[in-house]
Amino acid sequence: MNPSDPLNFDRHTFGSDFVWGTATAAYQIEGAVDRDGRTPCVWDTFGRQKGKIKTGETADIACEFYDRYESDLLLHKELGFNAFRFSLSWSRILPDGVGPAHGGRINEAGIAFYDRLIDQCLQLGITPWITLYHWDLPQALELKGGWPNRKIVDWFADFADVCTKAYGHKVKHWIILNEPLAFSILGYFTGQHAPGRRSFRNLLPVIHHTALAQAEGGRIVRQNVPDALVGTTFSCSPIDPFTPGDQSAAIRVDALMNRLFIEPSLGLGYPSKELPFLASIAKKVAKPGDMERLAFDFDFIGLQHYFRAVVEQSYFMPYLWAKDVTPLRRNVQTITEMGWEVYPESMYRIIKQFGQYEGIKKIYITESGAAFYDQVEKGQVHDKARVEYHQNYLQQVLRAKQEGLPVEGYFAWTFLDNFEWAEGYRPRFGLVYVDFRTQQRIVKASGRWFQQLLTEELVAVR
Ligand code: GAL
Repeated sequence: MNPSDPLNFDRHTFGSDFVWGTATAAYQIEGAVDRDGRTPCVWDTFGRQKGKIKTGETADIACEFYDRYESDLLLHKELGFNAFRFSLSWSRILPDGVGPAHGGRINEAGIAFYDRLIDQCLQLGITPWITLYHWDLPQALELKGGWPNRKIVDWFADFADVCTKAYGHKVKHWIILNEPLAFSILGYFTGQHAPGRRSFRNLLPVIHHTALAQAEGGRIVRQNVPDALVGTTFSCSPIDPFTPGDQSAAIRVDALMNRLFIEPSLGLGYPSKELPFLASIAKKVAKPGDMERLAFDFDFIGLQHYFRAVVEQSYFMPYLWAKDVTPLRRNVQTITEMGWEVYPESMYRIIKQFGQYEGIKKIYITESGAAFYDQVEKGQVHDKARVEYHQNYLQQVLRAKQEGLPVEGYFAWTFLDNFEWAEGYRPRFGLVYVDFRTQQRIVKASGRWFQQLLTEELVAVR
């Protein structure tokens, strides 16, 4: 489809049960990092080290969502979304990292904050979707070894138990992890994200403990909230070879980027045929019985898709023997502020790829969106490129749905411009512009486009 082709959908084309939401994460929006008993998480510590956040900024204030959630949710309602995805700050709820089962405290003020937030959603008719872990590991647990320490599986189980007991009677949509691949690789192998550790030695334990926590978390939610829909999310991208000779490189990158965490949860084990170094997990890291414990029958899988990847063979990248061919090198015209290629068809392809797994019952697009440079002109933000991004990616979601793939919702990343991890506040992904000096909110043209799609009885027009 060409950007100039007319759209051929309105919200009814997606069906009346289709979920329309935005996705957010606690650390990126809340601020209030030292209020009401919250203790630091790895991002607080990492962000204070020189040079870790490109712009030198911190998330201490972010969008002040901790104080502004009521008016922000009213705005969210006004835009017409019927679901709101947010995550729980682990160290706001369990300031010691561990829960009562391991001698830690529950912070009642932290519990109360999310309780108010959930109630506000419910009062407005917005379905709350909770993510248990969106990268903000309590620093107290990093000091005890973090994800490379096998005890993390029990610590995470404590957290899941406390949260589901607190909110399970009201919240029926639960996501265990946000993008396990991103936080394990960037946090413990390349060191670009918190806690900023760089070691190959840690990588396999981190992967294995994460995959175990993913399944264990699923079991706890199901046990404590039997009527919940339980899912987890994956970052994913179709992988294309740069030249026909790069086919095997593409297969290896696909195994790493798209298969590493879904396949163990489906009982298929790690993709060690394509990535032989993963075989050491079963031989050296796993304990007896672990390989069976990796499986859990999730009710849904959340796909988080932004771009496709094109790769080539590389002898300089150990274990993977492949590297990315950047959009710049490929002369791609439409690139976002993150340097990602805008390539709508990749949305259709990735849904199709995951739809081929027998064990996947339902798919939600739990994140998709784009950072473009935004300018406020006479109090307005005309983010045409972002409008087109969502229109064209949604068109491809619809294409997959019309072919019978079980895709049942779309969460735009993201509601408000926010703290974009190691990039600071510069890349703006929001449907709502945030002036970080004044905390003023301005609904962008993209937010208005969703509002029109979701609230008006009109065929969507450009
Ligand atoms: C995802 C992540 C989000 C957000 C987004 C845009 O990987 O879950 O927190 O940062 O990317 O980069």
